Amino acid sequence: MRVAYVSSELPGTRDAGPDDTLAPLRALEDVAIVQGDGLGGLPDDAGEVEAIVTVLTDRVDAAALARLPALRVVANVAVGYDNVDVAACAARGVVVTNTPDVLTESTADLTFGLLLDAARRITEGDRVVRAGGFGGWTPTFMLGQRVGGQLLGIVGLGRIGRAVARRARGFGMRVLYSQRRRAPVEIERELDATWVPLVDLFRSADFVSLHCPSTAETRHLVDAARLASMKPGSVLVNTARGACVDEAALAHALAHGPLAAAGLDVYEKEPRVHPGLLELPNVVLAPHLGSADVPTRRAMARTAVENAAAVLAGRPPPNPVR
Ligand code: GLV
Repeated sequence: MRVAYVSSELPGTRDAGPDDTLAPLRALEDVAIVQGDGLGGLPDDAGEVEAIVTVLTDRVDAAALARLPALRVVANVAVGYDNVDVAACAARGVVVTNTPDVLTESTADLTFGLLLDAARRITEGDRVVRAGGFGGWTPTFMLGQRVGGQLLGIVGLGRIGRAVARRARGFGMRVLYSQRRRAPVEIERELDATWVPLVDLFRSADFVSLHCPSTAETRHLVDAARLASMKPGSVLVNTARGACVDEAALAHALAHGPLAAAGLDVYEKEPRVHPGLLELPNVVLAPHLGSADVPTRRAMARTAVENAAAVLAGRPPPNPVR
């Protein structure tokens, strides 16, 4: 019997029926589904495992692959796949898939939520109120940064970056973007987005939002020098990957300027948050919630399962990563 190992509980796997997330795998007659608690929960004899459905906390590295001689597909329940050693998988002929598109809007929603929250000090204000610090309205109490009409710099104008740009237009923001290759001109026109070199984006934007993948090239893309080049009172938002930001340098720029605030959903060593950030009032810290709404997480789980099932059935998967 071939085995599909689902590393975590996924939304919609409790109820059988047409909405059952695992239905595409259940439809394969010769495949047994084993659900576990991380890759550490793989059965000792994992020799029959041909598919693994993983989440971003699973590390699929050479050591994990060595335990899975029959593996054919890693179906990651995420759009990012920096937790998977794609080169090692390719060398073994193992297909890697992800879950693009279905989480674009929810991640853009959370990005905009963090942007507004950090700029207008909503979570900070909530803490003040709960601590009994609200003594009544005054003209100078808890002033934040203006959002409407300001300049937003988007690093990475992929699906999520574009969805953020659309929201920004609704707020009357002007949009700059930076990425290695310029977006097609129709996209630039639709979003009224102007390409600029990264260095100019950081220097001129009031808000910078990161939407780049985590690679060797983007590691600490936001470092002390870049942060120092930002405008006084600017705001950084990161819903991409924690490794894109040097967190110690960010804590310094939040404590001593030039940044007014930051909104973060991701951290370099999750679930650990840099202690320097935990001490600061002017950073909103979300626990990696980018895609965390009910329909999105259901769709991500279903997409990953469909990818795994396709490979096991000998069909091309809908979302191979390369
Ligand atoms: C979430 O962080 C994802 O990559 O889907």
